[in-house]
Amino acid sequence: MTDKSLGRFYVLAQEFWSQLPPSARFRPLEDARAFSRHKELMRGWVGQVVQGFYDTLFGHPATRAIFREGERPARERTLRDWYLRTVEGPFNGQYFAWQTLVGLVHVRRGVTNAMMAAMWNWVVDTVSRLAREHLSQEEAQALADAWRRLGFTVMALISEGYLHAYLEALAHAEGVEVGVFLQRAQEEAARLLASLSPG
Ligand code: HEM
Repeated sequence: MTDKSLGRFYVLAQEFWSQLPPSARFRPLEDARAFSRHKELMRGWVGQVVQGFYDTLFGHPATRAIFREGERPARERTLRDWYLRTVEGPFNGQYFAWQTLVGLVHVRRGVTNAMMAAMWNWVVDTVSRLAREHLSQEEAQALADAWRRLGFTVMALISEGYLHAYLEALAHAEGVEVGVFLQRAQEEAARLLASLSPG
């Protein structure tokens, strides 16, 4: 992936990132340091993470149905690369732009935000458990916190990217601006809520 083809995702990722209050999102200094202190240890977890991730997805009918026959080895390779790049750092604009693009790759295959959020939860749970097994309580906590903030932050970018992709497709089909659909969605939500209120 070249920087040029990521350009559009840089802009989107930055726009979504700026919506997150700094104390409630990934902390580029503190969290990146926690990753960096333990990257060698975390590299060693790649096999378990990849195997467990796909056992989980293939063990559940709704997520199993997303995959094509014989696709698993290729998917394991891409998740392996993703995990190793994540534990390696750095957590720069390119990384977050790439995560926004990865979200879109999933939209193409019908993977929902619900599935993505559940698997981020699985990843955070798994690395936090491994951290507790291998590190002092304090370091395990710092690493688990860093992963949790990363997971929520990336999931925020993915879910906004998902919405943006759908709105853009609708706007394109109707020949109007994306903003028109956002406005309509707000109005429709207000109308629906008003119809629910008693009296
Ligand atoms: C923590 C959540 C997830 C991460 C980090 C992740 C990561 C990735 C990455 C890095 C790729 C390769 C993207 C590329 O080609 O540039 C990919 C592709 C793919 N992932 Fe995921 N994934 C996640 C969740 C899921 C879930 C929940 C499903 C299905 C239920 C899924 C199914 C797929 C499929 C089918 C592809 C191939 C897409 C295509 O090229 O057509 N992933 N994933």
